[in-house]
Amino acid sequence: MNKHSKKFWTDKDIRKMVQSLRRLYIPRPEFDKLDARFGALLEQRRADDADGMLFTARSIMLVGPSGSGKTTAVRHLKHKYRHAMATDTEQEICEFIGLQVPSPATMKFVGAATLRALGYPYSGNKQGPAIWDQVKEQLRLRRTLFLGFDEAQDLARFQTDKERQSVVNTLKSLMENSVWPVGLLLSGMPDLKKIVNQDAQLARRVDPIEIGRLHAVRDVEHVIKIVQRYADRARIEVTASVKNEAFAMRLMHAADYQFGLMAEIVVLAVSHALFTQGFEAKLSIRHFAEVYGERNGAEEWMNVFIAEDYGRINPRKLLDDGEDPDDGENA
Ligand SMILES: Nc1ncnc2c1ncn2[C@@H]1O[C@H](COP(=O)(O)OP(=O)(O)OP(=O)(O)O)[C@@H](O)[C@H]1O
Ligand SMILES: [Mg+2]
Repeated sequence: MNKHSKKFWTDKDIRKMVQSLRRLYIPRPEFDKLDARFGALLEQRRADDADGMLFTARSIMLVGPSGSGKTTAVRHLKHKYRHAMATDTEQEICEFIGLQVPSPATMKFVGAATLRALGYPYSGNKQGPAIWDQVKEQLRLRRTLFLGFDEAQDLARFQTDKERQSVVNTLKSLMENSVWPVGLLLSGMPDLKKIVNQDAQLARRVDPIEIGRLHAVRDVEHVIKIVQRYADRARIEVTASVKNEAFAMRLMHAADYQFGLMAEIVVLAVSHALFTQGFEAKLSIRHFAEVYGERNGAEEWMNVFIAEDYGRINPRKLLDDGEDPDDGENA
């Protein structure tokens, strides 16, 4: 386009493009594991049901730090299986039902939230065990094969040992149910492992999948490719400033080495380039520095994309003023 020609896109085009960037799902090795495991469990269950057999259901636990991409992976899994199983919660038969563990995660609260996710009008005066009986009945009526609990680490938070054991027993009873066993898809932060491991019987029935951290050296090439991929999708060019190892390392640090956060920062930077310069934008490290500064309120010397010694910056800390890095951590 020469400098006299008028821009030929509208703000609506840009917004559409940004939506499409946000929807882009980058395949992950952990996702393949999750997919393979889930697929195998589903197939086995279909075969058992066809033969009129009832076995204890198996479950999957997906763990990773905040921003690693757990919720996104489960959403993508559900999307991928939308033809292989009934996943529409509006329909009577719904084979996958997911919910977020409520807070506080008492058995009564979790049971009530599960009932609501099952679309059952919950009356507030029932006790915990009665609610869970209802949950099991609804799971059977709706022919639910998998129940997804996201933020499942909260099941153990602020609980006494006794309460924790009752959580574990309830989870086991869903899987062992003699009328309609249900598999669980527990996703959450690494503390979730403690809940599952506290009970040998539960641990034996749960397959763990862990989302790892990005590796500052090994993942450099991959990260550069992902930046390129988002830019290609947005149909903008990239400058050399985002095609080198030093940049990739800054980006990983900014994302605290979490894959999901890294993808999110790239989406923000590409969107920022589009919103400010349209499709003529050339993606550069400046776009990253600007979105990082906006998001973290960081002065230049605290900006991972600008500061020379960025290794000392804690990217999780918002509005960092450079004071005591420990405050609030021990509360
Ligand atoms: N495979 C992926 N491809 C593209 N973007 C991703 C991918 N995985 C995660 N993201 C993006 O990363 C961000 C964080 O992901 P997500 O919310 O799934 O993390 P999480 O592990 O559930 O974190 P939390 O424990 O805080 O809930 C989201 O904006 C999401 O869009
Ligand atoms: Mg999440």
